[in-house]
Formats: sequence, structure tokens, C-alpha cells
Amino acid sequence: MSQDALKVAAAERALTYVEPGMRVGLGTGSTAAKFVDALGKKVATGLDVLCVATSEATQSQAEKLGIRMSTLDETPFLDLTVDGADELDGELRLIKGGGGALLREKIVATASGRMIVIADASKKVDLLGAFPLPLEVVPFGLTATRNMITALAADVGCEGDIKVRMLGGGKPFLTDSGNLILDCHFGRIEEPEDLDEALKLIPGVVENGLFIGIADLAVLAGADGVTLLGA
Ligand code: A5P
Repeated sequence: MSQDALKVAAAERALTYVEPGMRVGLGTGSTAAKFVDALGKKVATGLDVLCVATSEATQSQAEKLGIRMSTLDETPFLDLTVDGADELDGELRLIKGGGGALLREKIVATASGRMIVIADASKKVDLLGAFPLPLEVVPFGLTATRNMITALAADVGCEGDIKVRMLGGGKPFLTDSGNLILDCHFGRIEEPEDLDEALKLIPGVVENGLFIGIADLAVLAGADGVTLLGA
């Protein structure tokens, strides 16, 4: 089965958790996009849901599919958010932000009664950290912020190779909120909670890609079928 087909399988299983009348948060990334596609098909056949997007890209995809959209200000409590992840461990701790939408993703997921993570099974790891942790940071004071991240990461036993995410042509990637992304190669993250707490203490860090205590269920699609984690 191709990776694309695995993403579709996870997305379609997650769709079975969506009930008529629900307020649904829509994630960002290639797997979440499969869910939005599948949801769009259901909406076209009469399912009524109200959705909030975690990025401009997802907003535009959902609008094109005719999904009824709201904002988190108009609809501040959601029943369910379905989103992808870059890595997840056995305790449903996630690394997110590979697509740069981690801030809105965390706000939307936290405002939801339930978060379901969808992924192909290769995203499941024993220990987080092979995927560089994305941090959304304000452009002001970047060097100082970066130095503080390096020092704090060392305090919790992490390495500190940090790269500003770039687009082609020497331009930095900017998030939907106009901030920068730092991709932090921390190595093995033995204590994700400690790292999360440490990062929250740095003023220039708007948000980090560790999602701890947020996801309720993971729907993982592998060659042997779909498995559920946290059910
Ligand atoms: C977007 O910012 C991310 O958090 C994505 O959810 C994550 O990167 C997974 O993306 P893919 O489904 O494309 O792997």
C-alpha cells in the first residue's frame, strides 16, 4: 500500500467519528488534507457539520469543497479536531508543525472536546525527537531567543542544532501569523514534558510543536490495516 493510500485509510476511519451537527476542527498537512477531502464528500451527500480550519491552506481547501466554515471566535468550542502529526509516541505525545501550522493547530485542538490524530503507522516512535521540533518564534530578537533555546534545551539534556526554516531564494518561511519557524534538532527527547515547560519560559517562543495531553486517540494506518491507540 502506498503512503498516500495509508493516509486515506486513516482519514476515512477518523471520519466514522464525525456525527451530524458536530463542530469540527480541521488540521493541516497532507494527511489532514485527506480527511478534509473525505469530509467534503460526506458533506456533498448531506452531512451537516460546522468546521474551523487550522491554516489558510486548509480553509481554502475546505471552502472549495463546500464545507460550512466558521472561525474559532464565532465557534470557540469544538467537538472534535482531526489532524496529522510528524511523530507520536505510545502516550499520545506528539511532535507537530512540519507544515508550520503548529500554533493554530494547538489552539484549535485545545479548544476541542476531543482530538484524533491520523497518520501512517511509520509516524509512531518509541521516543520523540528524530523529527526536528518546530518552534514558532517572533522575528524580533531572534538571536537572543535562539541562544536561550540552546541553553534551556541543554538543561533538559537535549542537543541544540537550530535552523531557521527557509523558503527558496533565501527568504524565511513565515507562518499564517507572520512568525518564523525554528526547526530544532534536539535529538532524543527523553523528557518531553520538561522540554515543553522549559520552552514555554522563553518570551520569544510563541509556541512549540510538542502536543502533550492534547490528543485522545490516534488512528494509525499500516500495511496490516488500521490500529487505534488510546481507544
Ligand atoms: C502541520 O503544521 C503539521 O503539524 C502536520 O500536521 C504534520 O506536519 C503532519 O503532516 P503530514 O500529514 O503532511 O505528514
